Amino acid sequence: MDINRRHRRLRTTDTIRNMVAETSLHVSQLIVPMFVVEDSVNDLAIPSMPGYSRIRSCDLEKEIQSLLELNLKTVLLFVKVDQALKDNTGKEAINPDGLMQRAIRTIKSVDPSVVVMTDVALDPYSSYGHDGIVKDQKIVNDPTVEVLAKMSVSHAEAGADFIAPSDMMDGRVGAIRKALDARGFIDTGILSYAAKYASCFYGPFRDALDSAPGFGDKKTYQMDFRNASEAISEAIADVNEGADIVMVKPALAYLDIIHRVKQHVHIPVAAYQVSGEYAQIKSAAEKGWLNEPNAILETLVSIRRAGASVIATYFAKDFARLTSGEYHA
Ligand code: PBG
Repeated sequence: MDINRRHRRLRTTDTIRNMVAETSLHVSQLIVPMFVVEDSVNDLAIPSMPGYSRIRSCDLEKEIQSLLELNLKTVLLFVKVDQALKDNTGKEAINPDGLMQRAIRTIKSVDPSVVVMTDVALDPYSSYGHDGIVKDQKIVNDPTVEVLAKMSVSHAEAGADFIAPSDMMDGRVGAIRKALDARGFIDTGILSYAAKYASCFYGPFRDALDSAPGFGDKKTYQMDFRNASEAISEAIADVNEGADIVMVKPALAYLDIIHRVKQHVHIPVAAYQVSGEYAQIKSAAEKGWLNEPNAILETLVSIRRAGASVIATYFAKDFARLTSGEYHA
């Protein structure tokens, strides 16, 4: 046959495929989410996230060592707060000796070079399971932002490197930046969940932290999954308010959003492969319906190909082990 362009030529061998691969992923680009619990907690397994456990604060040191052995150096912390400490004001969120603040200090004392990112939202602290303060069944924006700014300063005081507001209140990035700067934390970064969608894929996470909303849903603050332009507007607002990195979440059902945001902002874009995405792959693999290592590599590389510089994923350790560091698509 007379074929002018034979695409298959560049697919002939592994070496050639690696040479011309357009996308790569390295462990330094991964963020490891961690669910920290008090030492008294015995129930560490998360049934909807097989293979992923909650971590007692007394086991943090060991866990950090095991991440470092795999060259994983960035963590994103979440805490599971005792029911008795939850209220509608987020009081425990700004306790200097709260679980989050202690966890940050512990990790920084193990190795100060570990990059510690902290989730900022009220849901784990809220008696209503909402990301903000509730008044007359509504999540009130401005009073919530005030608490989030205080919470961020408290995390920075404990040693956090990046504040990661996941609440989707308006104006919170600017307020957090201002509060951090006023206290001299000019080098504490902000990774904002800029385009966070109201998604069913957060279900297993809410099991992990016992943080499901007590009434209603999160659609008055998280984004409607029918919208894309709005994600650009959200991302640009966060850039203008001082975000250092903007995140899109979830990842796989939102690759188009990652791609579009990447075209419009000139700071790094992150993506979060969320708990439900993890659960999907795990459960299909358990049944023998998907090859787990291949599904991990394919999804993570797709997220990079879409335009994410950084990926938060529950598969970070698996990726590190599978590839001993680097994978070429
Ligand atoms: C809290 C928060 C959530 C996630 C990250 N931060 C849950 C939610 O908004 O309900 C989800 C992460 C995941 O599903 O892996 N604001």
